[in-house]
Amino acid sequence: METNFQTRMLTIEEGLSDAVQLLRQGEVVAFPTETVYGLGANALDPKACKKIFKIKGRPADNPLIVHIASVKDAKKIVREWTDAAKMCAEAFWPGPLTLVLPKSRIIPDIVSAGLNTVAVRMPAHPAALELIRAAGVPLAAPSANISGKPSPTEGKHVRQDLKGRIPLVIDAGKCSIGLESTVLDLSGKTPVILRPGGVTKEQLETVLGTVEIEREMGESREAFIPSKSPGMKYRHYAPNGEIILIKSADHKKAEKIAGWVAQKKSGNKMALICMEETKGLLSTNDLEGIDFLFVLGSVNRPQEAASHLFEALRSCDEEKINFILAEEMPEEGIGLAFMNRLRKAAGESGFVDPGKI
Ligand code: TXA
Ligand code: MG
Repeated sequence: METNFQTRMLTIEEGLSDAVQLLRQGEVVAFPTETVYGLGANALDPKACKKIFKIKGRPADNPLIVHIASVKDAKKIVREWTDAAKMCAEAFWPGPLTLVLPKSRIIPDIVSAGLNTVAVRMPAHPAALELIRAAGVPLAAPSANISGKPSPTEGKHVRQDLKGRIPLVIDAGKCSIGLESTVLDLSGKTPVILRPGGVTKEQLETVLGTVEIEREMGESREAFIPSKSPGMKYRHYAPNGEIILIKSADHKKAEKIAGWVAQKKSGNKMALICMEETKGLLSTNDLEGIDFLFVLGSVNRPQEAASHLFEALRSCDEEKINFILAEEMPEEGIGLAFMNRLRKAAGESGFVDPGKI
């Protein structure tokens, strides 16, 4: 693989024309969306899309989301624009919702990983929309991280992972949502959430009535159940350190945190990722034993707190943390997506042998 790119970081104003030229030449360019940064290529060019898989180290059976800037363009890539799709697009586009629909012939097999459906989304970021419009083609784009790592929510995260592998990152600072889009399967009788994300189940239900959740993702601690969304079966979002989950509803959570901190052997580095309110329950002594503290935000503003999860996990890597105590969130609203990512980051169990700490 070519790894000698300079990887320039430019704003959309500075980089738009270069980005468009690169995309037209079949190259790959990273760009911001409101959820996470995407690694984009011309979705109608199978050779360009193949590069995405190589650059990320992404398994070939994990399909890509196609990003469009108008409903007119969405209609060109699907076989049928259903009533449910129309209602979802009206309510949530541009925004963090991806719709899975039967694909039209113009979508190459590599994009859909051989499935007969395609995932399509209109992002709510002005730079993304401008780039798609200027490129004049839909952009296939997964999250712009090395496969298995936390998704990038800042331009510099993309650079950390992909420096030398891509020519250009369109940089727009932090992503506002900070967790990926909700992937909603509309190809069957009932809408099914394949991946929880920025648009909540509750929001979808106000528009669609009953919405199901793919089982694998709700209870990821259970034995592996193959999912309809191929990407869900791989290890994801993982920092280098091991994660220990702390239940948000546990009335003894401060004691539990203190207990883990007290057990830590010298030489190991321990981080705590928690809510503001939980930090307030800890003694000065507990706090002193923590090598790196990342406060996500207040329980009263779960959206904001959730938007910092990937940043927190990446910061733990920068601080060379071996063990990460991570506070859970109630699984409602954005909490469902937050917990889905946190559990996957923790591996299936979220349990670490205390003897190792
Ligand atoms: O917010 C997002 O969705 C970001 C930004 C860049 O748009 N993109 C993103 O892409 O998270 P990626 O590749 O990291 O995740 C795409 C997910 C995977 O779980 C994949 O399996 C699923 O969407 N997916 C894609 N096409 C599908 C299809 N035809 N059927 C079922 N699942 C599909
Ligand atoms: Mg991803």
